[in-house]
Amino acid sequence: MTANGSSVREVALVTGAASGIGRAVAGALVRRGASVALVDRAQDALRAVADELTEDGGRVLAIAADVTQEDLVAGAVDRTVDELGPLCTTVTCAGIAILGSVLDLSLQQWRATLDVNLTATFLAARYAVPKMVQAGGGTFTAIASDAGVQGAPGYAAYCASKHGVVGLVRTMALDHGPQGVRSNAVCPGFVETPMADQIFAEGTPEDRAFYESTVPLGRFAAPEEVASAVLHLSSAEASYANGLLYNLDGGSTAGYFEPPR
Ligand code: NAI
Repeated sequence: MTANGSSVREVALVTGAASGIGRAVAGALVRRGASVALVDRAQDALRAVADELTEDGGRVLAIAADVTQEDLVAGAVDRTVDELGPLCTTVTCAGIAILGSVLDLSLQQWRATLDVNLTATFLAARYAVPKMVQAGGGTFTAIASDAGVQGAPGYAAYCASKHGVVGLVRTMALDHGPQGVRSNAVCPGFVETPMADQIFAEGTPEDRAFYESTVPLGRFAAPEEVASAVLHLSSAEASYANGLLYNLDGGSTAGYFEPPR
């Protein structure tokens, strides 16, 4: 059963599917029985994920594309529908993190961050929503961040891009809810992925332990835990969830937290 209540096989499109959260989401969707279009610019990693999911019996379509390029996103959505069937589940996970305050960041770094994290989310919505409306309804789930709901020191461009994603998704909930498309954002704190590894590789060895200690649950999330939230939001069980911010951060944004001493 798909999010729009149809009993036909679910067709999903996942951006950023070659790594981290996107990879976990794609795997979880395949295990739910969906046919999944995997979209990513990292061709070799994408091929490896596609092969792995196919070996596990999944029906997947690997589409190598830079999601900031409008023609490539439009083409990816068209291919998904042509080769897999009516699209009802769209998940945007492609993202980059370039750290820095406004004094550190170049205009090029600012634009690159907004392009991948925000504009690419818009482009996926721009081309996927009409297909989901045509399919009789569907879900659009964006991976935002805890940096989409509060400031994050040293993450000026990233934080601005994720606040943008939150505003975009909330507005989509209002614009496209009446058309049967539910739009929601998952806002994780740190997740154990290559992105987080790269961020901590640039800092001191104590940084990771410090940030873990600021999480009430005492650890970062596993990508599979984020995938579980996405699977719920994109299921018929979440049939009334629209415009929701799913704060999946171990309690970090619940209030002021004092680590146990
Ligand atoms: P990751 O670096 O492991 O995976 C990101 C994927 O996006 C990569 O496969 C990369 O090739 C792809 N990608 C980047 N730019 C692209 C482009 N222009 N076109 C096509 N593909 C592109 O990162 P991770 O951690 O899985 O992040 C996924 C999303 O979750 C991102 O939006 C990130 O901002 C967000 N997030 C991550 C957190 C973390 O701690 N890892 C915390 C909160 C949010």
